Parts: sequence; C-alpha cells; structure tokens
Amino acid sequence: MIDSIDASFSIEWTHRLRFAQRAFDVGNEIDTLIEELQPVRILAVLDKGLADTNPEFIEVLDAWRGREERVCGDVLVLPGGEDSKNDLNAVNSVLESIDENGICRRSCILVIGGGAVLDAVGFSSSIGHRGIPLIRVPSTTLSQGDSGVGVKNGVNLFGKKNFIGVFDPPFAVVNDSTLLKSLPDEHWRAGLSEAVKVALIKDTALFEEIERNADALLQRDTAKMNSVLQKSATLHLHHITNGGDPFERLEARPLDFGHWAAHKLEQLADFQISHGDAVAIGLAVDIRCSVALGLLENEIAERIISLLQKLGFPTSHQELKNPILLDGIEEFRQHLGGTLTLLMLEGFEQPIDIHALDVNIVRQAIEKLM
Ligand SMILES: NC(=O)c1ccc[n+]([C@@H]2O[C@H](COP(=O)([O-])OP(=O)(O)OC[C@H]3O[C@@H](n4cnc5c(N)ncnc54)[C@H](O)[C@@H]3O)[C@@H](O)[C@H]2O)c1
Ligand SMILES: [Zn+2]
Repeated sequence: MIDSIDASFSIEWTHRLRFAQRAFDVGNEIDTLIEELQPVRILAVLDKGLADTNPEFIEVLDAWRGREERVCGDVLVLPGGEDSKNDLNAVNSVLESIDENGICRRSCILVIGGGAVLDAVGFSSSIGHRGIPLIRVPSTTLSQGDSGVGVKNGVNLFGKKNFIGVFDPPFAVVNDSTLLKSLPDEHWRAGLSEAVKVALIKDTALFEEIERNADALLQRDTAKMNSVLQKSATLHLHHITNGGDPFERLEARPLDFGHWAAHKLEQLADFQISHGDAVAIGLAVDIRCSVALGLLENEIAERIISLLQKLGFPTSHQELKNPILLDGIEEFRQHLGGTLTLLMLEGFEQPIDIHALDVNIVRQAIEKLM
C-alpha cells in the first residue's frame, strides 16, 4: 500500500519584456509576439482613459485591427483607474467577452491600459478557462516601470486593495513609450515614486540619475523618463526572475517598501489619490520611521524626501492622522501571511527587514511629515 507520494516538478517560463516605440506598426513588437504565440483568436481590451485622450493611438490600433484578422469583435473598453478594480464589473465584462467571442486557451487577450485595468484584465485572463495567454501593453509610467512587468493580478474587495488575485506571469509585456504622451501630470509622475523606491533598495546610480534629472522629468522630458522607466522595469524584472521568490512564498517583499501605508491611505482617501502619490507618501512615512528607529541618518532621509517633493509628489496627507491608518500594518501582515515583515532603510542599497513596528514610532514619523 502506498501512503504518500511527493513528486516535484518545475516549469520553464520566459518572461518577455519589450521596450518599443509604436509597437503596433507593421512588423514591430506586437506583430512579432503574435507571430511567436500563434493565437487562434485575439480579444483586445482598452483603458477608457487612454481611448478618450489619445486619438492618435486609436488610429494606430484601428490600423492594426484592420490587418490582423484574428482580432475578434469590437475592442472591449473598460473604465480606467481604480473603478476597474473596486468591483467585479470589469472582471465580469472580460469573462463575458471571452465567452461571447469564443476565446480559448490557445487564443490570447491583448490589454492596453494603466495598472488598474491591467490588474483586472490579468485576473480575468487567469481565471477564464483556467488561463488564457495575456499580452500586456502598459500605458502609464507606473505600469511601464513597475506593475505591468510583474506577475501579480487582482482586484479590490471589502474595500481592501488586491484582496482577490493570482500570481500569473503574462506571455509578454510591451512598454510603448509613445503611449505616455496623453497622460495627465499626476500620472506622468506616478512611475517615478516606484522608481525611487526600487532605486533606494537596489540601484543608487538610478537614484542619482533621477535626482540629476528631476527638473527635466517634471517638465515631461520623454527621453529622460524612458531611461528611468527602463531601468526601473529591468530592476523589477530581475527581482522577479532572479530573486528566488517570484510568487512571494516567503515573508520578505522588498518591492513593497512604503506600501503598507500607501495601500491604507488609498483606501482612507476613498481611492481619490493615485497609487503613485500614495507610494510617495508611504515611502516618506517609512523613511521617517527608519530615522525614528535610529537606522537611517536624518540627512539621507531629507535628501530622499526633498527629491520626492521636487518631482511634484505630496509627502503628507490629512489621512495620515487618521488612527485607522495604523490598521494598515496588521492588514499588510495578513495579506503577506506569517510574521510581519516590513522593509526599512539603513542607507542607500541597505534595506533591513523588521518584524514589529511600534505605533509611537509611526506617530513620531508622521508628526515630522505634517
Ligand atoms: N500588479 C502589481 O504588481 C501592481 C503593482 C503596483 C501597482 N499596481 C496597481 O496599479 C494601479 C495603478 O496603476 P497606474 O498608476 O498605472 O494608474 P491607473 O491604472 O489607475 O490609471 C490612471 C489613469 O490614467 C488613465 N490612463 C491610462 N493610460 C493613459 C494614457 N496613456 N493617457 C491618458 N490617460 C491614461 C486611466 O484611465 C486612469 O484614469 C493600482 O490599482 C495599483 O494597486 C499593481
Ligand atoms: Zn506599488
């Protein structure tokens, strides 16, 4: 009689990230990836915020649809931003489109949009038929430098960020810099707070590049923004592929630096604050906590916080005074599972994990920011 069997297996996966300009033009990245994937049908999904403000891109998309006969039906347009994640409407419409258009596991979903739409569509494509290949075309700075490159997909539930979701890598990610032109200023800068985050932990030269180019970045210098986003995306990609924990089974999540406060603040502000701004404030909180804990020199903290401010980010918010903010620490632990693990900073490229955070330290840190 056999009592038990432990049989291990592993799956080889290539994470494809392409940096592009006009990715939908003939013979460019989208054509090449589709040639490689050979999908039976393609369902195209578009962020309404992009659809409404970037007629130039809509023409390019229409031209591509005109010559790619596997694209079925109309483009599915979803509301942009957190509206696509705060209920299951967006997820349901993608699932309905998958059904109505006969999209199968040998087909593909191609989504163009900000991080929120990518999250909702990525979740839908993962659960529809237990997994339909996904090509992500992130259209915001934040999604090109950070979220679009990752393996996480999900939507909010019970008012909590990303409460339901899956770890599921896309077939490919295509960062097309020409999409960023139509972004409003708040979302133009948003990718920079995540870039500062990853630079602080992993790449001081990138931090210095952002510092050196802060004025140009604020004034929408596309080449300088692309340079920062490419480095940020590459650092994120390498963290996923070489960090040894792509599906976050372990407790440490270095890329969530500043995020316990950021996520709670987004909820307390009724999602009226962008993720990029919330991350800047969350970073400021944890940097000030690092000083209050005696880990980080005040001079370095001030240098980082003044860079965030120079880039146009807020580093404070009235909801930081809300005592409910502190619930964010326990919610973060629950979302992670296991022991609380928060990242603090001892210096550039010197992250340190802590497993408890005294509320008085947080209050002291917030006091400094108000
Ligand atoms: N999955 C992950 O690993 C991960 C990581 C970080 C953040 N996120 C999530 O990403 C979301 C934030 O994403 P975001 O910062 O990309 O913003 P967003 O998706 O909220 O989009 C911001 C706004 O810009 C509009 N928009 C998108 N592209 C545009 C364009 N090119 N021109 C004009 N308008 C455009 C959208 O319609 C929306 O109104 C949050 O929900 C956050 O939790 C996920
Ligand atoms: Zn983030």
